[in-house]
Amino acid sequence: MKKVGFIGLGIMGSHMAANLAKAGYEVWAYDIVPAAVEKAAANGCKGCASIQEVAENNDVIITMLPNSPHVKAVVLGAGGVLEFAKKDTLVVDMSSIAPAASAEMQKACAEKGVRMIDAPVSGGEPKAADGTLAIMVGGEEKDFEQAKEYFDVMGSSAVLVGPIGSGNTCKLTNQIIVAVNIAALAEGLMLAERAGADPEKVFNAIKGGLAGSTVMNAKAPMMLDGNFKPGFKIDLHIKDLGNALDTGYGTGTPLPLTAEVMQMMQVLKADGMGQNDHSGLLKYYEKLTGSEVRR
Ligand SMILES: NC(=O)c1ccc[n+]([C@@H]2O[C@H](COP(=O)([O-])OP(=O)(O)OC[C@H]3O[C@@H](n4cnc5c(N)ncnc54)[C@H](O)[C@@H]3O)[C@@H](O)[C@H]2O)c1
Repeated sequence: MKKVGFIGLGIMGSHMAANLAKAGYEVWAYDIVPAAVEKAAANGCKGCASIQEVAENNDVIITMLPNSPHVKAVVLGAGGVLEFAKKDTLVVDMSSIAPAASAEMQKACAEKGVRMIDAPVSGGEPKAADGTLAIMVGGEEKDFEQAKEYFDVMGSSAVLVGPIGSGNTCKLTNQIIVAVNIAALAEGLMLAERAGADPEKVFNAIKGGLAGSTVMNAKAPMMLDGNFKPGFKIDLHIKDLGNALDTGYGTGTPLPLTAEVMQMMQVLKADGMGQNDHSGLLKYYEKLTGSEVRR
């Protein structure tokens, strides 16, 4: 049976590891939270007690962790992957992190003869569960080709975007476009409401035109219902926009719209709404105006 290591068994990683096990791989699974390892074992994975156990026994190791510091700790830290990995191991980091962190880790890995690619995903928990994630990859072509069999199990598309870090650059691009779109949608619907037009009728009138989008179709109904159950949490989007802004500073790229939406999200977080869906950006406008946009 073909083996693969998997570190980080949270909302996304638990499903991805389970899908690999279902596809016939022996998945050596580890998380810092023992209950997550137990759940993975119940889903057909081989529960591991340490990163060492995963790294010593696998030639391919997938990581799915919250942010750059967590991946650095797992890959470069004491007791981490690089301490125990065999030469020529391939580390496939599927977390959404800063592109510069991916490049830094790949360099450290290369010094020890270990290969690394970044492969963040889009699609959220439902697509992690049914194995239809969109996977954005940065790294060497031959490493991408080697990882493709795993991507085929976890996702419905995997695109090699460019060198190491490019997968995360692609993901940040996606996150900027989504965040700014949601804010524009909230702003527009609030104007409709306050100017006396029915926001639901406005949505129906414009969704087929140039302003129409996947974001509009997914998020306008949530806004009109006042349903801000995640979905994708404001806290996670703040993490991604933070990485986008850092990347902007690092490359001398102005990101005025990203910075503005980041401030809106920070207001909502300070107001206790960090766990809401990002369609909750509407609440920012409701706070500003005292008006509510509802069906
Ligand atoms: N949730 C989503 O909808 C979604 C969608 C697309 C991308 N993502 C991205 O995927 C990544 C993972 O997201 P998630 O929702 O699964 O997060 P999560 O917080 O549910 O899972 C992360 C897991 O990593 C584990 N972990 C943290 N530090 C560790 C360490 N040192 N060693 C071992 N395990 C450790 C945690 O215990 C947790 O189980 C994030 O970068 C996120 O931005 C999430």
